[in-house]
Amino acid sequence: MVAKNSYLPVVALDGPVGVGKSTVAMSLAHRLDFYYLDTGAMYRAFALKCLKERVSLAALNDSRHQLFRDTIINIVYTSKGFCITLDGEDVTSQIRMPEVSAYSSKVSSYKSVRDYLISQQRRIGRTQPSVVEGRDIGTVVFPDAFLKVYLDAEFSERVRRRYIQYQQCEIDIPKEKLEESIRVRDKEDLSRPFGALRKAEDAYYVDSTSLNADQVINEILKLYEKRKCLVSV
Ligand code: DC
Repeated sequence: MVAKNSYLPVVALDGPVGVGKSTVAMSLAHRLDFYYLDTGAMYRAFALKCLKERVSLAALNDSRHQLFRDTIINIVYTSKGFCITLDGEDVTSQIRMPEVSAYSSKVSSYKSVRDYLISQQRRIGRTQPSVVEGRDIGTVVFPDAFLKVYLDAEFSERVRRRYIQYQQCEIDIPKEKLEESIRVRDKEDLSRPFGALRKAEDAYYVDSTSLNADQVINEILKLYEKRKCLVSV
C-alpha cells in the first residue's frame, strides 16, 4: 500500500532517444493540466552555450566555471507554444540541430552540468504539478515522483520516429548517419557515470513499438488513475 501524500505531484517519464517522450509528455501535461518540463531541452541549451562560447569539455570539470553563473535557461510558454530561451534568446529550433544533439550527449556526462541543471529542474518541479521527461527523472531528479514511466521502443522504430521528426523540421540527414548517431547517443546515455539512463525499480515499463502516441498517452493516463487509487486507499 502507498502512504497518502508521500509523493510529489510529478509524473516522471524516462526513456532513450527517439522514443517519442516529448510528444507524449507534452500531451499528457495538457490532459492533466500539469506543467511540462523537458529536461533534455535544458541539456541541449547548455550544450549550445558551450558551443557558442567555445568552452572545452575539459573546462566542465570545474563546477566554479563562469558558465554556471552566467547561463540563463528559461522555458517559456507563448501563444505559439513551448519555447526555450538561452540568455534571453529564443533557441527552440537551434537546440534541435544534429550537432547540438551530439554535443548535449557529451556535456550531460559531466557531474558539474548535471548538478547545475538538476537543481533547476527540482525547483521547477516542486513548485507545480509537472510532467517531467528525461533520462534520470525517476531515478535521480524525482525519486519520489507520484508516477514513474519508462518508455521504450525497438531501435529501428526509434530511428524511424526521429527521422520523421527531422524531416518535419526540414533538417536533412541521411538515415545511416542518423542510425549511427542514435547508436552513439544510446551508448553515452547508458554508460555515463552520473544519471545514466535506466528504469527505476518502481517505474512502469511501456513498450511503445507498436503503439501510436494516443495509445501511449491513454496507457499512461490509466496508470496515473491506478496510482491515484493506490494513494487514496
Ligand atoms: O531528450 P533529448 O534527446 O532532448 O536529450 C538531449 C541530451 O541530454 C541527451 O543526449 C541526453 C541528455 N539528457 C540527460 O542526460 N538527462 C536528462 N534528464 C535529459 C537529457
